[in-house]
Amino acid sequence: MGESGSIYMPPANSTIASEVDALFYFIFYTAIVLFLIVISFTAYFVIKYRRKGERELTSGVAHNLKLEILWTVIPTILVIIVFIWGFKTYLRMNVAPKDALEIKATGQKWFWTFDYENGANSLNDLVVPVGKPVKLLMSSQDVIHSFFVPDFRVKMDVLPNRYTITWFEALNVGEYDIFCTEYCGKGHSEMLGKVKVLEMEEYHQWLEKAAVDIPEGMSLTEAGAQFYNSKACATCHSIDGTAGVAPSFLNRFGSMEKLSDGKEVMVDENYIRKSILNPQAEVVLGYQPVMPTYQGVLKDRQIDALIAYIKSLQ
Ligand code: CUA
Repeated sequence: MGESGSIYMPPANSTIASEVDALFYFIFYTAIVLFLIVISFTAYFVIKYRRKGERELTSGVAHNLKLEILWTVIPTILVIIVFIWGFKTYLRMNVAPKDALEIKATGQKWFWTFDYENGANSLNDLVVPVGKPVKLLMSSQDVIHSFFVPDFRVKMDVLPNRYTITWFEALNVGEYDIFCTEYCGKGHSEMLGKVKVLEMEEYHQWLEKAAVDIPEGMSLTEAGAQFYNSKACATCHSIDGTAGVAPSFLNRFGSMEKLSDGKEVMVDENYIRKSILNPQAEVVLGYQPVMPTYQGVLKDRQIDALIAYIKSLQ
C-alpha cells in the first residue's frame, strides 16, 4: 500500500489507488486466514481420524447442521462485503467527476495519441496536471488495445468504433508507465507510454508550447529529429540502417524502392508525405501494411520537418 508500493502492488499514486488496494488486501488476507483454517483442520483430522486398526469402525455421524450453517453464512457475508465494496469502487472508477479535464486518447498499432483541449497533441506521453481529475475519452483506430497505468490502478479497454472512458487524479508530480494490456500484434510489447504529471502552471506552459507546430528557433531538421522520437516514428523506423517492422530511414531519401504491387518508386518529398498521411497506398516490398495514418496528428510544418530530417540521414 502507500506511495512506495509493496511486493504485491506498485506504488499508489492516484486518488482511487488506495481504495483498490484496500479491497485487494481485504480479499488477500481473508483468503490467507481461510486457507490456514482449512489446512489446519484438514491436517488435524487426517491425524485424529486416521485408520487405527482392522477393528476400528468409522463414526456414524453424517452431518452437523450448526457447522454447515456456519460455513455457509460466513462466506456468504464475506462475498456480499466484497461485492458491495467492489461495486462502489467500480462505480467511482467509471464515473468521472464533473470538473474533470477531458483528454482524447487514441490507441493504434503501436502507439498512443493524446489530444488536448487547445488542439495540442502528444504521442505516448500523456501530460496532465497534478491534483486534478483527468477524464480520458478513448477509442482505437484499428484493433482492441487496453490502457493501463499500474501506479494509478487504472485499466480500460480501448475499442475501435466505440468510446470508452476512464479517469484518474494523480497525487504526485512524476512519470508513470503506461502499458497496453491487450495483445494487439507484433509491436504490442513496445506500445509503451508515460503519464507525465506536472504542476498546474507547468502543465499550462507545456500545453501552450505543444500547440505550436515547430518550436521557435529550431531548424526543420532539428525539429524533425525531435518528432522522430516524440511522434513515435522511432518505434518502427530505425536510423542506423537496421530493418525492423518498417524500412530504416538511413540513406532512404533518393533511393528507388520496389513496392508490394510490383511498381517502383523514388523516395522523394512527395512519397514520404504520402506515406505519412496514407501509409497503405504504396508499401515497400517485403513489409506489412501496418503503419497507421498520421492524418490529423501531424501538421504540414511537422511533416516538412520530418522530411528534412529523413533527408539529413545520408
Ligand atoms: Cu496495443 Cu497491445
